[in-house]
Amino acid sequence: MREEKKNVIAGLDIGTSKICVIIGKAREDGLDILGSSITSSEGVQKGVITSINKVSGRIKRLMKNAELDAGRKVNKLWVSIAGSHIQGKDNQSFISIKGEEQIISKKDVDEALKKASSIALPRDREIIHTLTQDYIIDGQDQIKNPVGMRGAHLQLKVHLITASSGCCRNIEESVKNAGYEVEGLALQPLVSGISTLPPQEQELGVALLDIGGGTTDLAVFLREGLIFTKVIAVGGNHLTNDIAVGLHISREEAEKIKLRCGTASVDYLNKDEYLEVEGVAGRGNYRVKRSALVHIIQMRIEELFELVDLELKSSGYKGLITSGVVLTGGSSLLPGVKEKAEEKLALPARIGYPRIDSSTKIFSPVYATAVGLIFWGMKVRQELSLKERLDVKLKEWFKDFF
Ligand SMILES: Nc1ncnc2c1ncn2[C@@H]1O[C@H](COP(=O)(O)OP(=O)(O)OP(=O)(O)O)[C@@H](O)[C@H]1O
Ligand SMILES: [Mg+2]
Repeated sequence: MREEKKNVIAGLDIGTSKICVIIGKAREDGLDILGSSITSSEGVQKGVITSINKVSGRIKRLMKNAELDAGRKVNKLWVSIAGSHIQGKDNQSFISIKGEEQIISKKDVDEALKKASSIALPRDREIIHTLTQDYIIDGQDQIKNPVGMRGAHLQLKVHLITASSGCCRNIEESVKNAGYEVEGLALQPLVSGISTLPPQEQELGVALLDIGGGTTDLAVFLREGLIFTKVIAVGGNHLTNDIAVGLHISREEAEKIKLRCGTASVDYLNKDEYLEVEGVAGRGNYRVKRSALVHIIQMRIEELFELVDLELKSSGYKGLITSGVVLTGGSSLLPGVKEKAEEKLALPARIGYPRIDSSTKIFSPVYATAVGLIFWGMKVRQELSLKERLDVKLKEWFKDFF
């Protein structure tokens, strides 16, 4: 098998229900998907690793399949991080521009970024993302790139994402034990947004809802950047549990019947019908009305969107979501979920598909995070190589002086 090349990149999404990986190759004008693999998850609860052994076993098998599919090996992976331990916090820095001409340099911007990222954190937490929100020069806001502009003061507003250090190390350990290296961690809703939201939508204001198995991740994007995140501890697995309890059937049977006959509202049932389900512990098969199943799903979905609405209102961003809501994650495939979102949130909604060739097998909201990891990885690599090129140039320039 061929070795990893510089432009080959892999995204590993460790979810509560499934673990999947995509291997891609960056082109100048886009991305080629080389291979992928997906498997059911084990050792993950509500988006957080609870067994390193189980997760690394899954990653090992998954990677073998994906590498066979892609026809090449990879060593490093961009990996998703999620869970209720994730917190978002706004911060800002303020620096005075030195020099007579007061031209803002790259060094000034780096200093502003360093200052804005300096917050007191408990020993068990760390910053995983410093996301630039706005540059303000002498009171003038919405400056896209301050380098080269003139001003006495530069103000930088950032959104910091912090995570539990233990959770970060558990991801790294699971990947390492499987024989790979973490190239970087990236927040699940951030990368799901990057893969599904065109820049115009991000510019206008949009809420992304990744309804997965263990959690629903909410992220608000405005002016092409993420400004708010919240993890809600309700996902598709809760629907399955409710169905199992409500219909007195096993979780496995509940999952099957949810996927086969579930919808988000009784209003979308043209006619009622009876379904045959398998009772628990040898109780035999019996018949239930489809409307009984849908009623259970509807109650939980409505509760979920009510929680989302509360979060959006209390964040203060609800009024800024001009583009509406985009739904991703496996549970967004439940028929009628888009309409329920529109009804409960009073915003237009759509299902978010990754912005890749629609004929590939990974063109699904289930792969939104994994595709986003590749986009994110490409962006970070590009920024780093630009920085390295600049550093090399600077070093060469300095050589002439000393
Ligand atoms: N067609 C479908 N209809 C309804 N639900 C579906 C469908 N396909 C998948 N799901 C549900 O989606 C959930 C899994 O979604 P997804 O793969 O996005 O989760 P995950 O990434 O593993 O979890 P998380 O992000 O919460 O850690 C499961 O609860 C599953 O039952
Ligand atoms: Mg997920």
